[in-house]
Parts: sequence; C-alpha cells; structure tokens
Amino acid sequence: MDRASLIGPNELSIIPKETVSNILGPKGLPRGPYYDTRKHEEGTSLDGIKEYTVHAVRRRPWARGMNSTAMKYYEGVIKEETANLIHGLRERKSKEVDISAWMSFFSFDAMGRMSFSYDLRMLKDGRDSHGLSQQIENGLIEAAWISHVQWLVPFLKYIPSASKSWEEIKAVGERLVRRRAQDGSIHPDIFYYLMNEDGQEITKPVIEVCAIDGMLAIIAGSDTSATTLSHLWYYLLSNSACFNQLRSEVDEVFPLGEDPLNDLSKLGTMSYLNACINEVLRLYPPVLAALQRRVEPDRGGVMVGDHLIPPETQVSLYAYAIHRDPSHFWPIPDQFWPDRWLSQEEYTLPSGDRIASVITDHEVFIPFSAGPMGCVGKNVAMAEMRAVVSTVVQQFDMTVANQSNLAKWEEDIREVFVTSRGTLPVVLKPRHS
Ligand code: HEM
Repeated sequence: MDRASLIGPNELSIIPKETVSNILGPKGLPRGPYYDTRKHEEGTSLDGIKEYTVHAVRRRPWARGMNSTAMKYYEGVIKEETANLIHGLRERKSKEVDISAWMSFFSFDAMGRMSFSYDLRMLKDGRDSHGLSQQIENGLIEAAWISHVQWLVPFLKYIPSASKSWEEIKAVGERLVRRRAQDGSIHPDIFYYLMNEDGQEITKPVIEVCAIDGMLAIIAGSDTSATTLSHLWYYLLSNSACFNQLRSEVDEVFPLGEDPLNDLSKLGTMSYLNACINEVLRLYPPVLAALQRRVEPDRGGVMVGDHLIPPETQVSLYAYAIHRDPSHFWPIPDQFWPDRWLSQEEYTLPSGDRIASVITDHEVFIPFSAGPMGCVGKNVAMAEMRAVVSTVVQQFDMTVANQSNLAKWEEDIREVFVTSRGTLPVVLKPRHS
C-alpha cells in the first residue's frame, strides 16, 4: 500500500484519505493495546475504553456535560479566566514573560473551574504553584514508554517507582474529584454530569471510577489547548504578516474599547482568526502520538482503499503525518499559511507567487480525532482559543524577548502522547492604558 509504513512487527502507520472514516468512524476499529495504561485497578478512564458499546455508555455524561446549558457556564468561565490572563499580563507589561507558561496557567485555571469548580489560581499567582505542568510531563513520559510494552502493565505495581509519576498525576485527579464530591457545587461543572448530579443515569456512578476521569479532565482539558495556543504565538511571532492580518481582522470586528469577550459567538465567524487556529492544529496537532486502533481477531480484516489490513494488526493514525501529506494539504504543506483555509478566487503564497486553487481536505483534518471516540471537548477548546487569541492580539503588541528561544521552539517539541514544549519568552506592550 502506498503511504503506509510498518512501524512495529505488527503495526502500520497509514495516511490514505479513507483511513479516517474506515478506522475512526462509527463502524471503525476499537482502540489498540497502546491504551492499556488507561486501565487502573479501580477502572478505566474514558479514553482507554476499547469496546464501542461500553464506551458509548461511559461517554453519555461527558456528552451531556457539553450540551448548550453546560456551554453557557463554561463560556462564563472562559470570559473570566481570559480577563484574569489579560490582567496578569498587564501587570508584567514590558517585562519578559514566558507566554507558553502563561497559556498553561490559563488553561489549567479554566479547566479547574469547568471540571471541578476549583480555582487553581495560577493566573492570579503568576506561577504553577502545584507543579502540575511538570507532573503531567513526567507522568506522560512514563506512560509513553509503558504504552509500548503493554504486557508489563499488570506487573508495574511490583516494580518500585516504575510508574510513580503516572500514579502521582492520577492521585491529583482523584483528590480534585473527591474534594468536589465532598463539597458539592453550585455550578453545573463537568463533574456535575459525571457524578450524575443531574440525575439522568439510572445507576449512580462509583466514585472510584469517576475519579479516574479526573486525570483525563486535567490532561485532555488543559495541556492540549495550552500547547495549541503556544504554537500559535510561535508562528505569529515568526510571521509578522500573519500577525498583522490577524490584528486587522480583530480591530475591524472589535475596535479598541469593544471587548471580544462580550460576544464569543462572533469570534466563531472571524475567518482569519479561525484559519490561524486551524493551521496551527494542522501543523502541530497537540496529540502527537498515534490514534492506535486494532483489527479484531474475528473481523476478517478491514479494507482501506484497495488494500486489506489483516486481523490483529494495529493501525496507527498520526494526525501530524496525515496533515502534512501533499495530497491532503497543498501547496507548502509544511509551512504555516492560514490562507489555505480561506475561500478565495486566487491565492498569494508567502513567496509572492499566485495560484488559482489549493487542496484543503477537511475530511482528513483530525486534530480532535473523529467518530464516536473523538474529542468530546472540541467546542470548549475552540471557544477558549478564540477568546485568548483575539483578546491578546487586541490588547498587546508582542515581541520576542530572546531570538534563540524562537529558533529552538520546534527543536524542543517532544511527543509524550501529547506535546512537551519549551519556553517562549516575549515582551508585551499594552496598546492602550
Ligand atoms: C486544542 C484542544 C484539544 C485537542 C486538540 C484535543 C484532541 C483530542 C484527541 C485527538 C482525542 C482523542 C485521543 C485518543 O483517542 O487517543 C481527544 C479525546 C478527548 N478529549 Fe480532547 N482535545 C482538546 C481539548 C479538550 C478539552 C478542552 C476537553 C475537555 C473539556 C477535552 C476532553 C477530551 C476527552 C474527555 C477525550 C476522550 C474522549 C473519548 O474517549 O470518548 N479535550 N481529544
């Protein structure tokens, strides 16, 4: 098969177009053994459940937690936390700040409140006093190697410190969930739905199982958005023409004095803002590892194009590779060029050359995965990113504090299932007092 590579004795990485629907769609394949690290003695977190029917039942409360009533509450949180971000950055005006770290402070604080009604206070304190970023990174580095030797998972408890960091981050999630269960909440946060406080499920969930999803909420709900936002600042700092075009759109829709946070729905209609976010999700999807699936032994294989993938083969989809394939995105698939997402009669490339058309294949754009096991938090993530980018661009001029960090940014990126990233020091100058 063209555009397929053998990446293990029994594992294929494939990128043809049909992959997405055949493998990730509703009649696709169950998750592969890579996800065994999501299995704990108390139960399995949502993102580790392999069987479609079991997964669908566990996903129900998560889906309710993303309904329009829930979204209203999250939008309120996003507005307040974006305002806290702007306040924190203003206090540090004209000083060097690591914008990548501040994106984490924002997304952790927003996630803490949206998931557990808990204020982690990183934006107010201007630091990650809980050490969550480092804990997550350590835990994910451990989970990444363990995921490749899944047969070891049942024995890890007998090997001192083998999965210490992974266990620690699980414990943080558990603590937050147990505190939330004890205190209750006046807000319809995500755990309001997961703990069946809305009374929609017949059986009350077991708190131990519920607590496992606490870790998922922390990692899935914060690290991913923070990474995307950090990559976006990197690209905008490296491409002043793109920054200026984005600034023009923001200024046109929200002239200085008009707060973008007053109309989050308008942000969804801003074509260049959304093109920039899509473009960064295309080049660096924050889940850098493969979405691994496995052809069941009794299925008789699965067709991708003209090719049969035999039973018991693991099939891995790397969004990073799929998004950079020239048959899916063309031209300059490895370059940041938001224009490819705009509908235009003619396109001007960064080189100045003009072309009549582009290939932008929305069907294979899978930063959030796709199908019944795809990201449940996509709308929340998009709302967060639009709010932060538009407000920061409206409020500040941003310059690189240290060119060498900018040059090293891509070098420092590591796959740890999601993304480990370096620092990005910048200086912010408010556009008005
Ligand atoms: C830019 C931001 C985000 C990106 C790119 C992203 C991407 C993804 C991807 C690729 C998956 C599938 C992972 C897999 O199957 O291995 C996933 C799953 C998931 N995401 Fe996100 N995510 C983002 C933000 C969020 C947010 C903000 C939340 C919560 C509010 C969230 C909650 C989840 C959950 C619960 C799952 C597991 C879904 C399931 O197994 O049914 N994500 N995400």
